[in-house]
Amino acid sequence: MITENNDILFGNGDELPSNHSTNPHIQDVISLGRRKVLAGGAAVGALAFLGASLPGLAQAAEPMARGIKDVPFRRRTRLPFAPVAVTRADTITVPAGYTATTFIPWGTPITGRYPAWLEDASNNAEDQAEQVGMHHDGMHFFPMNARLGGRQSDHGLLVLNHEYIDAPLLHPNGPTVVDGKRANVDEVRKEINAHGVSVVEIRRGPRGEWSVLPSSRNRRITGATPMRIEGPARGHALMRTRYSPSGTSTRGTLNNCSNGHTPWGTYLTCEENWAGYFASADSELPRELSRYGVRGSGRYGWETVAGDEFERFNATRTAADASSDYRNEPNTFGWIVEIDPFDPTSTPVKHTALGRFAHEGLVFAPVKPGRPVVCYSGDDSQNEYIYKYVSRDRYRPQRSDGRLLDDGTLYVARFNPDGSGDWLALDYDNPDFQRACEAAGIRFADQGEVLVNTRLAADIVGATKMDRPEWGAVHPDTGDVYFTLTNNSSREQAIPSNPRTPNAYGHIIHWREASRDFAGTRFNWDLYLLAGPESDSRSPAGRALDGSNIMASPDGLWFDDEGRLWIQTDMSGSQLRTGPFGNNQMLVSDPRNGETRRFLVGPLGAEVTGITATPDFRTLFVNIQHPGEGSTSKNFTSSWPDGTGRRPRSATVIISREDGKRLM
Ligand code: FEO
Ligand code: CA
Ligand code: CA
Ligand code: CA
Repeated sequence: MITENNDILFGNGDELPSNHSTNPHIQDVISLGRRKVLAGGAAVGALAFLGASLPGLAQAAEPMARGIKDVPFRRRTRLPFAPVAVTRADTITVPAGYTATTFIPWGTPITGRYPAWLEDASNNAEDQAEQVGMHHDGMHFFPMNARLGGRQSDHGLLVLNHEYIDAPLLHPNGPTVVDGKRANVDEVRKEINAHGVSVVEIRRGPRGEWSVLPSSRNRRITGATPMRIEGPARGHALMRTRYSPSGTSTRGTLNNCSNGHTPWGTYLTCEENWAGYFASADSELPRELSRYGVRGSGRYGWETVAGDEFERFNATRTAADASSDYRNEPNTFGWIVEIDPFDPTSTPVKHTALGRFAHEGLVFAPVKPGRPVVCYSGDDSQNEYIYKYVSRDRYRPQRSDGRLLDDGTLYVARFNPDGSGDWLALDYDNPDFQRACEAAGIRFADQGEVLVNTRLAADIVGATKMDRPEWGAVHPDTGDVYFTLTNNSSREQAIPSNPRTPNAYGHIIHWREASRDFAGTRFNWDLYLLAGPESDSRSPAGRALDGSNIMASPDGLWFDDEGRLWIQTDMSGSQLRTGPFGNNQMLVSDPRNGETRRFLVGPLGAEVTGITATPDFRTLFVNIQHPGEGSTSKNFTSSWPDGTGRRPRSATVIISREDGKRLM
């Protein structure tokens, strides 16, 4: 973003809220005062079904886990470790008996010429395209024999996202800006190449140590890699650009936050805060740009460089039609991207049927042969929504592929105050959807246009505005779904599903599909926990959180195979510097009894995000993003992981037990 005095701000990428809709079905919204009335009425009954009282702040609720009738309440702990304390140490802290080892930090050579990482950050753009990218995020381990249904644990492909860049750390002396323009082309190319995804073939040795293999499967996908567009928006007039007049392809994926992986063994990367990469100088922006927060200048000023590879970040109407400029380039972002990690020559696919928004991640319900595939995705921006996709075609093991993600129904969630919920179809052919469009005075020409404008479509049907939906996770046995709602400084009205105003600490919501029918349109929900300090929180067991588990801004969420819920935090600003929570952390929670313990604390200024494990559960991979956030190229505020005085860099951390056994 360019300021009045011609500086480019190089922000960290959280977008400003852009949901200015007044949802017509806002009857969900009740005031705090009214909540007391509701608590004495019928509304509490439905919540009590799930074992929760209405989500009050101070009053203790019944243990929520106990309310799920068919899951036995267990007293024996499944968290066999002593919780680590809150700390601001500039290191990784794990419980006694565990080790944490740094792996593939930003700049690790993985392909091509394998260019060595240069400590002064003087690697050029071409080097960066052959090295691990910056700012690790979502990640998945694919056993080498995954395609045969195998669970090989000592050899596989580690695939990970690189969400964004810290320009002051990416270049030796930070970015070069002259008169509000980026003045060094190689710098901008390097920034684009530091984004995207890394595919890394790795092997575990006899002593449990992991190494990167020089392999033809290793691959960097960047902000410039050619990609195919599939689904209802493929070829749409709103997708046509100078690069692809047919509207069927685009270049690159950006701001890849959380991830997903399909039942057929491919990786999914999710485009989150992409709007800030684009600029438009048009005085009136079309709805497909304004509703997503595209502004007059881009976050990193890429659009200020001459040449087609950079001009595409300028969405200003400069030509007679869309095939001759880049007015539609931002419409080719905001999607879920599928990558086949086992085929390094494959073209990544943007699946438009899954909707266009700030996709945090994508998580699948358990698949059954002969049933549709179902997956969930959150739109991480203040007051945005949670979505579900149900494929039209049925899942067939060994036969199904990414085409299941190209034809189906996209739904958005309404969390009713009484603990019930509805999935509302965003489907051009659905009469209810057509009626909602008419009532709102909004017209769409076809399903492609609905999907390009997913947020607007969700506004119209009356979805529930949420407190920044981040990761989701599906319990491997019960099929219950959990989503983090990380915080929301702009929430003005409390509603049962988002009960605090403003929401400074975040919470985790939990739902179960009615009759356990994942493809259905009804569900029941409650709140799993309210994050916060001891004075303003509620654990899953209905008590306040305590020293072993206080947390804020829950973000990453993942179930291990045995049904333990792993929670990662992303606090920023004053909460990180002065709150009672210390550095960002990772906790483990057992939905069977609500027990929750802090397992790991990250280094200074870092977010803990991204988690996956080997099938034998002897290795856990966790990502540490932006250690030393706020560093300048001269002043590093963290020296993790390389040591005193050295440039901080994002990295994966390998966690194992000292005795080499299963982690838990
Ligand atoms: Fe990239 Fe919503 O975190
Ligand atoms: Ca996140
Ligand atoms: Ca976050
Ligand atoms: Ca982040």
